[in-house]
Amino acid sequence: MKQALTITKLQKMKAEGEPITMVTAYDYPSARLAEEAGIDTILVGDSLGNVVLGYDTTVPVTLDDMIYHARSVARGAQNTFRIVDMPFMTARISREETLRGAGRLMQEGHAHSVKIEGGEEIAEHVAACVQAGIPVIGHIGLTPQSVHQLGGYKIQGKLEAEAARLEADALALQQAGAYAVVLELVTEPIATAISGKLTIPTIGIGAGPGCDGQVLVYHDLIQYASPYRAKKFVKTYADVGSTIREALGQYVSEVKGRSFPAAEHTFGAAAAAPVGALYGGERK
Ligand code: KIV
Repeated sequence: MKQALTITKLQKMKAEGEPITMVTAYDYPSARLAEEAGIDTILVGDSLGNVVLGYDTTVPVTLDDMIYHARSVARGAQNTFRIVDMPFMTARISREETLRGAGRLMQEGHAHSVKIEGGEEIAEHVAACVQAGIPVIGHIGLTPQSVHQLGGYKIQGKLEAEAARLEADALALQQAGAYAVVLELVTEPIATAISGKLTIPTIGIGAGPGCDGQVLVYHDLIQYASPYRAKKFVKTYADVGSTIREALGQYVSEVKGRSFPAAEHTFGAAAAAPVGALYGGERK
């Protein structure tokens, strides 16, 4: 049986030049399919606020939301390294509050690690988690929880000052004990330079091929009713949304036209089967 990766193995992958794969998942089926596909790491991202809960931003997502989703992901992907996002403000107020929140994600959300958005300014909170035995992956560049402060979802690292800040943030997180850093919407030269300077892996999203690994949002990469227009950095690997819409449309028209249920979906009095055989049965 496949074993979940560890932070040591992730760091070895960087050292050996093996790209790290990460995808978000938010529930049992998405987690199960990601694990079956052989993904290295699953991120229960607070992007669930956008793609699952229908909010405009990740700001309304709560710690309880994260725990609820993380628990179902844990059931679907028991043998995959699972990272759970610390949502808006939970790693900002104090060291104690950060520890309390991260502890809940590990204990109640069955996380193997937490992800914290922010750079130098939260490095002390990252260090506190690491000292408490909670592995942390950082997240810099476009940090969606700060979208209102950043003035929108903009590419980071275009200006010299921004590039210097990103590098300082990445180094501060490494120094604080983070085992990896997500670089979101960072220009390729800056992401590549940071990846070369850090000894810990970088995981890019919209940050080009120079990162040590890549992450995408599940609903974006399979076009599962993602609320976003096509993004330049996302490749659509399947159009699951169209398949589901067509299937549901056909179901509606067959029920309306009385062609479903047909004889093969219907029980005559003689064919009664035990209820367990109908609803239970073996798991695939
Ligand atoms: O919440 C999320 O899905 C993320 C990824 C975009 C890295 O933080």
